[in-house]
Amino acid sequence: MKKDDQELYFAQNAPLPETPGSEAGAKPWQKTDVVGSSLPHVDAYERVSGKAVYPSDVVFPDMLYAATLRCPHAHAVVKTVDTGEAERMTGVRAVISGKTTGTDILWPYTPDMNTKLFDPHCRFEGEIVAAVAAETLYQAWDAVRAITVAYDVLSFVSDERRSLDAEAALVHPEGNKIKTEKYGRGDVAKGFAGADVVLEQTYRNESELHTPLELHGCVAKWDGDSLTIWESTQGVFAVQARVAEVLHLPLAKVRVIGHYMGGGFGSKLQADKTTIIAALLAKKTARPVKLFLSREETYLAVGNRPPGTLKLKAGVKTDGTLTALELTAVGSSGAYPAGGTALLDWLVRDLYLCPNVRTETTDVYINAGPSRPFRAPGHPQGAWALEQMLDSLAEAIKMDPVELRLGNVPMVSQARPNNPPYTTTGLRECIEKGAQAFGWKEARAKLSEKKSGHIKRGVGMAGGLWIAGGGNPPSTVIVKLFSDGSANLNMGASDIGTGTKTVMAMVVAEELGVKPEALQIEHADTGTTQYATPSGGSKTVPTEAPAVRAAALSVKEQLLKLAAEDLKTDPSDLVLKGSEIISLSDPSKKIKITGVTGLKKRGVIVGVGYRGPNPEGKVVNPFAAQFCEVEVNTKTGEVRIIRFLAVQDSGRVMDRLTFDNQTFGGITMGIGFALTEGRVLDGRQTGKLVNKNWHDYKLPTMLDVPLDMTCLPLDRPDPEANSTGAKGLGEPVTIPTAAAIANAVHHATGVRVTGTPMSPLRLAELFAQAAKQAL
Ligand code: MOS
Repeated sequence: MKKDDQELYFAQNAPLPETPGSEAGAKPWQKTDVVGSSLPHVDAYERVSGKAVYPSDVVFPDMLYAATLRCPHAHAVVKTVDTGEAERMTGVRAVISGKTTGTDILWPYTPDMNTKLFDPHCRFEGEIVAAVAAETLYQAWDAVRAITVAYDVLSFVSDERRSLDAEAALVHPEGNKIKTEKYGRGDVAKGFAGADVVLEQTYRNESELHTPLELHGCVAKWDGDSLTIWESTQGVFAVQARVAEVLHLPLAKVRVIGHYMGGGFGSKLQADKTTIIAALLAKKTARPVKLFLSREETYLAVGNRPPGTLKLKAGVKTDGTLTALELTAVGSSGAYPAGGTALLDWLVRDLYLCPNVRTETTDVYINAGPSRPFRAPGHPQGAWALEQMLDSLAEAIKMDPVELRLGNVPMVSQARPNNPPYTTTGLRECIEKGAQAFGWKEARAKLSEKKSGHIKRGVGMAGGLWIAGGGNPPSTVIVKLFSDGSANLNMGASDIGTGTKTVMAMVVAEELGVKPEALQIEHADTGTTQYATPSGGSKTVPTEAPAVRAAALSVKEQLLKLAAEDLKTDPSDLVLKGSEIISLSDPSKKIKITGVTGLKKRGVIVGVGYRGPNPEGKVVNPFAAQFCEVEVNTKTGEVRIIRFLAVQDSGRVMDRLTFDNQTFGGITMGIGFALTEGRVLDGRQTGKLVNKNWHDYKLPTMLDVPLDMTCLPLDRPDPEANSTGAKGLGEPVTIPTAAAIANAVHHATGVRVTGTPMSPLRLAELFAQAAKQAL
């Protein structure tokens, strides 16, 4: 992700000029009728029946199918490409590679790091060398296989811990170091000197691969000089901007349509090289072109949670006061600058009270696909280290881990300049409420007794916060009320499966009484909907909902004005209740929405809403505490999660059902990070990805997820955050999960597992070692 994009996602406050209809005037809700209830997804039927059209479903009668030839080596230089045979094959309509006229296009990773669209220097397995468009997908793939490429195969580096070694292969000639970022406050040396216990531990997380059910890809179609793209994306405007930039087209000539989309988790916040390639092939053939990646390609090329090694040193007094935290971390963006250490140290900096903190994160190149933001970039990795360290400290000073955390809950963001306060922080309540609901004390006491046998049980917990999740401008939304009382919601934000449309329908229903089934919601489309930033950063609800509310309020204001003419009273005397407008001073004076003369004459009322700015000098963040009980088989290394409880402070609960679903989904993803998922690169011989399919890359399944899962929202509206009081949820929920499980495994077995995933193989080895040492 480019730096300015990153700022967009994580900014607490982007400047916005005063805009008419801004949410600033909206008063916080007191009591709500619709918001806060449990409403199933408004598009559930479309989704489960197969009626919903995803970008991968888009078909045109004259459409061609495209496939790409990708470099099979971890590191190589393309010497020659022979496309002759492929071009002559049945059904093939175009073959393009670096030698094709018009493909000399720069693809920017950062403002000062461009590569070519078909770069002869292939820095990772999966770099694109050529592309084919053919009448059928099979013909396209056959033609890809018929292209002959001569490579100079180079030596590679596949482990970020080896990247800066003197003998390591160079991914880029300038060297493998991308950058080192440093942060400090207080004096860590003094902090450690004043501690009663100082511990140091190195933690590591394997790279986790994004696995959206819908693959990455698009359909590209030209009409004259106008390009339309149907893309599986988290943000149609981001794709539009990138395509326009790379192809030097005006924004108005690039239309991106989002429809439904089958998951992204951060890997679809941006356009991909393949989007450009589809557009070029469509131009060359004067036909629509569909280019979707295979699962293997998505695993190789379009993102991952970067691998990281985190050395953490921590000091604590016997009374539980944290005196110093020092983190030295190395992460990897892969083969291009892509935020490989982004936010890796944020929890160490900001989650718990600590006067002396120093962090140093170094991002390095390796010969692997570039990382992309992955549900709470940096945070689950940071929690993996920090939350396990907190447990170790608690054990060392013989304090309950819950007590240790409760003694270090900050009310301000210590890592930001001038220590701004949080608008609301539920961290303390999350921990307290969770401990109580989980029965922490009892379970911990019971399971701490000495265990015989090889099946052992333990409990663990962890806390977390997410650096963003407050939402921010800009967002523009339009609500149209028709003369029959039905309405249309025009919003440019993509519903990435999280229930965005459903929550927004509830906001419209709350203000205008329009039933969700009487509301038409437009799909994200740069041609017809209003500008929105990509759905990511857990900011979609706190960004869009206030704009939707402002648009609905604007409609209501206009409606009451028109009704006042009919009822011969002042608009301020009127309220909208259900489908009627009623006079406060004389309740016998009322009129149905459908009876309002002005609306009937006009046919429509249009309300425009804008997202207003966030509060000055304050920070809006979501918080969480999670608790779990596990059963560990110390012979096989298997971990079974018996129960899991998540307490989430994400401000107001907008839709209880989507809230639960997000929470359970986030926990499931955290279980994968903890127990099963990890990219495996063959570091010895080839540098190639060896588990690039669903058989070898282990996603958690229903069998890995406990039946006993509880979502316990604090449901405390944050009145300062925005006019809906909601904070983000999608990312914060997945942050503490893996660490909570690791802490439970330690409680059960006494073995501290510092590396992900806690696979049976890894654990069985550790248990065997521990058993040997005990002899
Ligand atoms: Mo998220 S990683 O901002 O989609």
